Amino acid sequence: MSRADDKPAVLIARRLLPPGRDRLAARCELREGGLDVTPGDLLALAPGVAAIVADPTVPVGDALLEAAGDGLEVVANYAVGYDNIDLEACRRRGVAVTNTPGVLTNATAELALALTMAAARLINHAEAELRRGHWGGWDPGEMLGLELSGATFGVVGLGRIGCRYAELVSRFDGHILYAGPSGKPEIEKELGASHVGLDELLAASDVVSLHAPSTPETEHMISTAQLDAMRSHAVLVNTSRGSLVDSEALARALVDGRIGAAGLDVFEHEPEVPMHLLEAPRCVLLPHIGSATTKARSAMAALVADNVLAVLDGADPPNPVA
Ligand code: GLV
Repeated sequence: MSRADDKPAVLIARRLLPPGRDRLAARCELREGGLDVTPGDLLALAPGVAAIVADPTVPVGDALLEAAGDGLEVVANYAVGYDNIDLEACRRRGVAVTNTPGVLTNATAELALALTMAAARLINHAEAELRRGHWGGWDPGEMLGLELSGATFGVVGLGRIGCRYAELVSRFDGHILYAGPSGKPEIEKELGASHVGLDELLAASDVVSLHAPSTPETEHMISTAQLDAMRSHAVLVNTSRGSLVDSEALARALVDGRIGAAGLDVFEHEPEVPMHLLEAPRCVLLPHIGSATTKARSAMAALVADNVLAVLDGADPPNPVA
């Protein structure tokens, strides 16, 4: 940072946990929007900032970049996904964009596993029935779920998180299929996984877990045709982004019994959760908590500060978004 007396201003759009916030506060003037910030508030806070700390709920596009002005050097996303950021607009202005990969891999893969197990064994439904006083005693034919030992797991997108999920579910001693743009021979060897096309994966898997980024190509990659291609007992898990799944088609497939169950941590227009999903049977719904462990969110915050400070110091940030 060249501005010795004149601390650079950093806009924390909403909230950054202390492992990142405290480090930024030591060297920068912080402007913080808080959890209830509106787009209008952000435009008012932005003029003159050198960095913006965004998160998946904060769209960063021309209006905010324009409001920040020519001194803006970096947009640091407090997340691994960065579909909330208009990369092209940042590129045009020479603004670096960074994210927080790696440190949330375990947390997110573990949540995908938790959703897999909860959906496969109807855990939320069973617990709700018990709490409502609807338990009439042990019934050999009730609440029958999918056994995961020996199952075939289809992992869509074998990046860091998909890979860790595959590693975790490999302990069920079943089969692992994966779909994605490129083969990963080392993972195939380590986990006995097979690289297949999406159609083959959907037709053969007992569990389908989505780990692909949100892009125009992945939008609604799971819709009616894909749900129809799945096995009627299959479980669909989504911890990546809501845009990957056509939620109306999914709700219909659950109602019609064309798939077994679903576990979702993400939705297309968060924090809105569509009524058709709230009303669908055999569906576990969580409020986007994939990376919500103390360890992951703290490490993510520290990584945000590393990235911001590197750029403000004129160095290459550790996690530039390509
Ligand atoms: C959270 O959704 C993330 O992308 O880190």
